[in-house]
Amino acid sequence: MQTPERAGPPLWLLAELTYSCPLQCPYCSNPLDMADHKTELTTEEWIKVLRDARKMGATQLGFSGGEPLVRKDLEILIAEARSLGYYTNLITSGVGMDEARVKAFREAGLDHIQVSFQASSEELNNFLCGSDSFQHKLEMARQVKAQGYPMVLNFVLHRHNIDDVAAILELSKALEADYVELATTQYYGWAKHNQNNLMPTREQVKSAEAIAHQYQKDLEGQMRILYVVPDYFEDRPKPCMNGWGSIFLTIAPDGTALPCHSARIIPGLELPNVKQQSVDWIWHESPDFKKFRGFEWMKEPCRSCDEKEKDFGGCRCQALMLTGDASNTDPVCDKSPQHDALLAQVAEIEAQQVTEQPLVFRNMRESKKLSRQTN
Ligand code: FES
Repeated sequence: MQTPERAGPPLWLLAELTYSCPLQCPYCSNPLDMADHKTELTTEEWIKVLRDARKMGATQLGFSGGEPLVRKDLEILIAEARSLGYYTNLITSGVGMDEARVKAFREAGLDHIQVSFQASSEELNNFLCGSDSFQHKLEMARQVKAQGYPMVLNFVLHRHNIDDVAAILELSKALEADYVELATTQYYGWAKHNQNNLMPTREQVKSAEAIAHQYQKDLEGQMRILYVVPDYFEDRPKPCMNGWGSIFLTIAPDGTALPCHSARIIPGLELPNVKQQSVDWIWHESPDFKKFRGFEWMKEPCRSCDEKEKDFGGCRCQALMLTGDASNTDPVCDKSPQHDALLAQVAEIEAQQVTEQPLVFRNMRESKKLSRQTN
């Protein structure tokens, strides 16, 4: 059993290179106050993070954002990661990439590229991301494949596109995708803010799942399809981050080290920064990374639960957002005393199929506005 004193290495390093992004998806998991975190690590500072984490045993490295393509030094960081022996993954919208850049990534040694789409139709895709990017995305998906990468596509599902799962999978088939991730929106950051306008009904979720399963059967051996059910509709929580401070280390654009992408919302955390502390100290010594590591912090019903080593009590950020206390059991779990309240909340959102509140798109202007409202 893992204890706070004896953590294994941060096997999975997520480098959020920037919060800048040419798109404005209303379900982005970036923090609502991203405009208040303007500074970004320099190339040299990122290289130091990559070296230090690798020395500690990190093996998987994700480049994300915002849109990581915004960083002009991405090729340099990829080459460094390659020389250090990481398995590297670029998580991108494809906007900011062209044929030459895909080739440059290949030459620098990037292992894997995941291209995200917002929808299967040009109109909805462009509406959701606030940019006429659909045709370019199609072209970039083809370029990724042409450079010898597996084609990995990601679609975030919500009320506005979940009924199009068959069309999404047909598009993926036409593009000869090797792997498709259908991930129903998780409610963090901008998605939480827009939750009432994004959450699908239980009926929509069930029907999308059935279609996805049929395609999984029909396309076995040809295209792998991963369908991620939204955990609000489950009765056991997801093992978020595989346990706090267990294998995932996220570095935010300004160098803040986070046990998960959303940890800034948890009150009382000081959140160390790689500019002031070594990655080693942050991982092994910082109180924030120890706070929910292992099982000692758990209250009932998690503490005596025989499933705690499977789900680690669920998600700390979700527990905070839904119960006001990050150390409570994630209310997705039906053993949580707050589970019924979550079901009632979901039913209420489900009932309002047309919300009067418009989608708030993720951009720096809205972020500044929201910050002004909360300060
Ligand atoms: Fe923070 Fe799950 S997102 S612990």
